[in-house]
Amino acid sequence: MDLIALAKNPVPSGATTGYFNCPGKIKLRFARWQATRGPERGTVCLFQGRGEFIEKYFEVVADLRRRGFGVATMDWRGQGGSSRMLSNPNKGFVRSFADFDQDLAYFMKEVVLPTMSKEFASVDPKYAEMNCKTCHGKGAEDKTFKMPNPDLPHLPTTQEGFAKIKQEKPKVLQFMVTVVKPKMAALLKEPEMDPATKTGEFGCQKCHVFGEGTAKTP
Ligand code: HEC
Ligand code: HEC
Repeated sequence: MDLIALAKNPVPSGATTGYFNCPGKIKLRFARWQATRGPERGTVCLFQGRGEFIEKYFEVVADLRRRGFGVATMDWRGQGGSSRMLSNPNKGFVRSFADFDQDLAYFMKEVVLPTMSKEFASVDPKYAEMNCKTCHGKGAEDKTFKMPNPDLPHLPTTQEGFAKIKQEKPKVLQFMVTVVKPKMAALLKEPEMDPATKTGEFGCQKCHVFGEGTAKTP
């Protein structure tokens, strides 16, 4: 059990919880919930104050979910269920705010890149050389890492458009649908988009822009 429930402060139902690794053998505890009422209005990323922890926000989480928001939250290093930086676990400590910033980039470097380049290379060996730029494009240079990346091939907005890709590039399409999308969704611990029901947030749109644009349509 990653979250601690008290009689008067139960864990909101349906939590996805776990730990992710950061440099220096740091483990950070996270939790996510989907909205309990539609229509889904987005996900609130709840970052706590100094000395706080996920459990303190259970009531807020439940309120947000009832209003149609998913919630994602984590314990900062040195707090709650995350690793301590000092031998005294009761003292919070962080060298600089940049440490907090780095945690996400390391997750990408340690987990996402090695896993995905192996998958991509199984389709085309040129992707063994895959790096942050393959997905992030200019965002890897200016360090914004903004996704979706408009320089990746734009995807069509129509059924006919998809039928054309299916005919011309069946292997790549198959790979994107059956490997890249589910694998990335699992790595990022985001529910995978199901085009039939339009539920779940991680779909092609996280990486690719849809519609006409500067980049060539595939
Ligand atoms: C396989 C494709 C892929 C590769 C390779 C990849 N990323 Fe990402 N990255 C993503 C996706 C997709 C997101 C958006 C996740 C989301 O929105 O849930 C993301 C998000 C990020 C973010 C958060 C951006 C923000 O807006 O807050 C950072 C930082 C980041 N990546 C850094 C990196 C670094 C550094 C590397 C190389 C070590 C890297 N990524 C390699 C796909 C990739
Ligand atoms: C994690 C990011 C990511 C996700 C999610 C993703 N793609 Fe891709 N896609 C890429 C990358 C990276 C390339 C390779 C671009 C390159 O070679 O420059 C690519 C290439 C493609 C291509 C062009 C292949 C070619 O050879 O021209 C198509 C078509 C495509 N993706 C379709 C999809 C579809 C459909 C989905 C959703 C089911 C999807 N992609 C999901 C990252 C992603």
